Amino acid sequence: MPMKTKTVFICNECGFQTQKWMGKCPGCNNWNTLIETLATEPQSNSGSVLKKTRAVNVKRLNDVNYDREERYSTGIDELNRVLGGGLVRGSLILVGGDPGIGKSTLLLQICENLGKTRKILYISGEESEKQIKLRAERLGVVEAELYLLSENDVERIIDVINELKPEVVIIDSIQTMHIESITSASGSVPQVREATNAFMRIAKQDNISMFIVGHVTKDGALAGPRVLEHMVDCVLYFEGDRQMSFRILRAVKNRFGSTNEIGVFQMTDKGLEEVENPSGLLLEGRCVNSSGNSIVCTIEGSRGVLAEVQALVTPTGFGNPRRMCDGVDFNRMILMIAVLEKRCRLNLCNHDIYINVAGGLKIDETAIDLGICAAIISGYIDSMIPSDMVFMGEVGLGGELRGISQLEKRLSEVKKLGFNTAVVPKMSMRNVKIPDGLKVIGISALWELLKMLRNNTEQ
Ligand SMILES: Nc1ncnc2c1ncn2[C@@H]1O[C@H](COP(=O)(O)OP(=O)(O)OP(=O)(O)O)[C@@H](O)[C@H]1O
Ligand SMILES: [Mg+2]
Repeated sequence: MPMKTKTVFICNECGFQTQKWMGKCPGCNNWNTLIETLATEPQSNSGSVLKKTRAVNVKRLNDVNYDREERYSTGIDELNRVLGGGLVRGSLILVGGDPGIGKSTLLLQICENLGKTRKILYISGEESEKQIKLRAERLGVVEAELYLLSENDVERIIDVINELKPEVVIIDSIQTMHIESITSASGSVPQVREATNAFMRIAKQDNISMFIVGHVTKDGALAGPRVLEHMVDCVLYFEGDRQMSFRILRAVKNRFGSTNEIGVFQMTDKGLEEVENPSGLLLEGRCVNSSGNSIVCTIEGSRGVLAEVQALVTPTGFGNPRRMCDGVDFNRMILMIAVLEKRCRLNLCNHDIYINVAGGLKIDETAIDLGICAAIISGYIDSMIPSDMVFMGEVGLGGELRGISQLEKRLSEVKKLGFNTAVVPKMSMRNVKIPDGLKVIGISALWELLKMLRNNTEQ
């Protein structure tokens, strides 16, 4: 079939395609992201391309057979949990994260266990075999059936996969992969899309489980078009503060499991270590003798996690009061401040308020509303909250306390971590089994919290 070549402009951020150059992408409103690329298109006259038919293989649902043994453990429980109970054979997993966060480390570490029984091919477009070997030695991955390849030509990689027939393939990273027949540079949208397509075809055809590392842009999204996320079976983000050793692996898409699970790791010189008790790590070194600190309990996936919310409330020096937050939603914080002003008559309009969740955790659950309010009240009236008290509950605009889910699970985490008192919405307490020795205070409005914290100062 005669081929016609022409150029198109494709947005590097969102994949938007246009015939002419524009400064601003109409798809995502970013500037200077449209890049010229050669497009090849089959020429068709009167739609004749559709007329060719092939025999297709349609199956009834009942006739589709599958193996029960489709999942296997990666040897890292936290990763298994995020994947929904283990690695699914033939699945494509995209692992995104900031530079240096530990993506290559995590993927090399899973080789240790998987490599005992399975053949693994680790392809790096960024590091030489020597560098990978050095890291593998540091991480203690020595006896795995692991094959290394430092290469970025996709066609050659596919030849190697066909020849070696590995069960697991790791590609580090997709942005360094290159297809010769596409003229644009590595990392551009057409390259990333086509390379992923090629890897996906071979993974599905040969039932290979494939991990693909993806770089993220400065906004935190995976570099490359969003179609990349649609193509793969599972998208994991590896996040955390680079200065701190704490790392969180989060699933944002999973075709074989829940996306609510998180895996918690700690970076050490021996690589990533699993953290079985994240609450303990988050609360380590917490400030027990200053005002403005409250402990909240949030649900991450299937477990409760305790975290510390800190509020700094200081008189405004000049002009409008400042509001800043890290780890909680900004709008939610503004809402809580407004509710406290109106329903508890706190004069916060001439105070700067800064909120922070210690440990770099990001919480987007409304059940921490009560903890945010408690921290602000404590900071404002300058009184310490008892160090063994935990807050949980959603606050409505009328200052009323709304019910929260999974109270039993939260209370058992509170008890496990050695706290003695939990302040919860009264309406959630019905039919809830309270752990022995835990004092649970049910409140139904925000002013009750204010009264409780004020009384506490007077004692
Ligand atoms: N010798 C070492 N001792 C302790 N920690 C180390 C050592 N070498 C590397 N690290 C840790 O490993 C991190 C780098 O991990 P890794 O290379 O897996 O990150 P990455 O996400 O793959 O980065 P990139 O995006 O650059 O490929 C460093 O930030 C550092 O914390
Ligand atoms: Mg890397």
